[in-house]
Amino acid sequence: MATATVDLGPVPDLWNRRHLLGLEDLSAEEITLILDKAEQFKQVISTGDRKIPLLAGKTCVNLFFENSTRTRNSFALAARRLGADTLDFSASTSSLSKGETFIDTAKNIEAMGIDLVVVRHRTPGTPHLLAQNLRCGVINAGDGAHEHPTQGLLDIMTIRQRKGRIDGLTVALVGDIAHSRTARSNIWGLQKLGAHVIVCGPSTLVSPQWTDLGVEYSYHLDDILPRVDVLNLLRIQFERQTTRPFPSVREYAHLYAMDRHRLAKTKSDILILAPGPINRGVEVTPEVADGPYSAILEQVTNGVAVRMAVIWLLLGKKSRSTA
Ligand code: CP
Repeated sequence: MATATVDLGPVPDLWNRRHLLGLEDLSAEEITLILDKAEQFKQVISTGDRKIPLLAGKTCVNLFFENSTRTRNSFALAARRLGADTLDFSASTSSLSKGETFIDTAKNIEAMGIDLVVVRHRTPGTPHLLAQNLRCGVINAGDGAHEHPTQGLLDIMTIRQRKGRIDGLTVALVGDIAHSRTARSNIWGLQKLGAHVIVCGPSTLVSPQWTDLGVEYSYHLDDILPRVDVLNLLRIQFERQTTRPFPSVREYAHLYAMDRHRLAKTKSDILILAPGPINRGVEVTPEVADGPYSAILEQVTNGVAVRMAVIWLLLGKKSRSTA
């Protein structure tokens, strides 16, 4: 792996946070700073210099209590590309099974000399609990149906790259809004940057209460298609549902799956996103997911750059004024 000598300067004074717990807390300026730094990292990586050792001597741990392909691996890769050491905690083989508490487990891991904990847990608020109990930094990698801030950031980065702006765009989040942490992070992040957000899905997964967050809601995808710039297709999270929110998967797909017939009703420059994993044939058909309007794999590429930016902002050298 080639090593790049990159001078990003110190972490800007605008950033003085120890944790990234959600996009609800961040200002538009802080979100823009993360996106700008992610662009810089992406640019350096794309030139072939895969390693930028700005965080040599730092250690990050992945503390995942739910399965993950994209988030877990891209956080590990991001930390390694910055020269940090990484530790991968496995909940199923840990001493949690012997009765050790969650906080004791986290404190023991931290005592090994950890600088940053990346945590995913099914219970909303878990990253906030860790932030209160640990001395090191904490990143929320998804807490139940609450927030998934780096997913929101990489979605917004992909939109900004493709559209050149966020302000003034109409973005529809379609699908299982009720169980989606990605929905909340997208809503807070996109609205702060000036986008209009629509949440769309069956009435069992989208309620009028979502308007409290400043968004529009719709039960009819076909009605909103002609006026949206971006469609973010959220997975139906069968694993979080206690009862089926619709009579059959086939009926859901009939009303909400993005297929070529629905694509024909959209603007000619529609952008299709999906956080992944996708249920092919449920939220989106393969021809749309793999087609020219889709940026689904680009989102994954951007995820590494976004996570590099967030880790660097939390652990990087501060300027003398904030040190
Ligand atoms: N989008 C996302 O969070 O994917 P993983 O569950 O695979 O991390």
